[in-house]
Amino acid sequence: MVDSKTVLVTGGAGFIGSHLVDRLLELGHRVVVLDDLSSGRLANLSNRINFHHTDINEANLDETFSRENPQLVFHLAAQVSVSTSMRNPLMDAEANILGTLRLLEASRRHGVEKFIYSSTGGALYGDPDYLPCDEDHPIRPLSPYGLAKSVCEKYLELYNKMFILNYAALRYGNVYGPRQDPNGEAGVIAIFSQAMLEGKQPVIFGSGEQERDFVYVQDVVDANLLAINENVTGAYNIGSGESTSVNRIYQMLRDLYRFRKTPLKSPSRLGDVQKISLNSEKSLREMGWRPKTGLKEGLELTADYFKQVQTRSWV
Ligand SMILES: NC(=O)c1ccc[n+]([C@@H]2O[C@H](COP(=O)([O-])OP(=O)(O)OC[C@H]3O[C@@H](n4cnc5c(N)ncnc54)[C@H](O)[C@@H]3O)[C@@H](O)[C@H]2O)c1
Repeated sequence: MVDSKTVLVTGGAGFIGSHLVDRLLELGHRVVVLDDLSSGRLANLSNRINFHHTDINEANLDETFSRENPQLVFHLAAQVSVSTSMRNPLMDAEANILGTLRLLEASRRHGVEKFIYSSTGGALYGDPDYLPCDEDHPIRPLSPYGLAKSVCEKYLELYNKMFILNYAALRYGNVYGPRQDPNGEAGVIAIFSQAMLEGKQPVIFGSGEQERDFVYVQDVVDANLLAINENVTGAYNIGSGESTSVNRIYQMLRDLYRFRKTPLKSPSRLGDVQKISLNSEKSLREMGWRPKTGLKEGLELTADYFKQVQTRSWV
């Protein structure tokens, strides 16, 4: 029997956040969502939550925290695109650094028990010295997005020391699955899925031989739930440990959608890492987390979802 808590999920209307909200509700928690709907969708949300439609940088967080009294904070709201952060580092820092700091401040002032942060493994380590990267690998981000996430991890460490605010920073690989927005700049599996279903040629940036660590969204939700345990503190990689090229993803999806066309090619994007995979042994040891969904199964589940929503509008 789970001890029912009041839980604040920022970015809860988004891709990962909405799956997390569903699981928290199933477990009997009281869920409060704070989201500005910049990329999230109301349709992703159950009506059993308390929804605050607001930007984390504009909300009166003291008032929200006083009223809702959250015991746990899952912070997922973010500017999520590496490319956008390259074009507009100020906007990225405002959303991803200042926004996180404001939430941390509210969390420590209002006695939050634990702050669970959605960080990145894919954009944190830079071009790796060795693979798969463990949490001790040097942190050398190649984009303002990755830098902002690493700065926030440092704030979390400091708040933990100064104010005994317990935290976990979950460093995800490339998360994929149902509800990922195919209209964004991130999320190659969602983007390819939509293009293939619409009969359009997907665009591959660079050679397509760049490799990523793909992890299924429900496995990422599992990691968030396990991170509630008070003994889980610090940074944890959340990835499959395997690296898969974008070209391979293209082939696997092409087979699933019976797509016949060739992809379009475009120059590689600044800020993108060439090859990354994450060693998640620490997560297994300390949280009991391991990915349960293999890439083939995860892609099938994702393709089933995109086939079902094909007729719905994403705009
Ligand atoms: N998807 C991935 O592969 C991946 C990988 C590593 C880390 N992450 C992190 O996981 C988190 C969730 O990402 P996602 O893939 O679900 O993206 P998403 O865009 O679907 O979700 C982000 C949510 O935050 C909301 N939001 C954005 N800025 C906000 C603001 N200023 N105030 C309030 N709400 C705001 C959006 O409307 C959206 O609902 C992010 O922090 C992201 O950086 C994602």
